Amino acid sequence: MVKVLFVCLGNICRSPTAEGVFRGLVEREGLSGQIEADSAGVGSWHIGSPPDRRAQAAALHRGIDLSGQRARQVKAEDFHRFDYVLAMDSDNHRDLTGLCPAGEKDRLHMFLKFAPNIGHTEVPDPYYDGENGFEIVLDMIEAASEGLLADIRDKHL
Ligand code: 4NP
Repeated sequence: MVKVLFVCLGNICRSPTAEGVFRGLVEREGLSGQIEADSAGVGSWHIGSPPDRRAQAAALHRGIDLSGQRARQVKAEDFHRFDYVLAMDSDNHRDLTGLCPAGEKDRLHMFLKFAPNIGHTEVPDPYYDGENGFEIVLDMIEAASEGLLADIRDKHL
């Protein structure tokens, strides 16, 4: 099993969206038995909460149901459990670098590294933005999910 963990700040907007989009892609490709996805937040404020209602609505509009997800905080042990730990922005990446045990740094990546053609390196935090922020986030996540799956096929399957 290849295990993927998406990480943002709160685990209520970007990383649950990435978990849902990527899992949907994995299911469509018939790879659910080989690839597992989860998400977590750097911060602790929203532990136990479902995804932000705007994130849920935007995802559902594209056929992705996030309602069963609950936020949790990332922990050092996650770097032993997950093959890919994917940061949404450079603040997340910096915090994850601090948490990452020695010898596991090669598991940590910027998520948008897997969408080299979209012209962005970070998924912007939509929490304080309007509804359109969530559409932009979804577009970026869909592109990077395709690239991530290609990388997993190339290296692990
Ligand atoms: P996320 O968005 O990191 O994409 O889940 C945020 C959600 C909540 C907060 C910040 C970002 N917050 O400060 O509560």
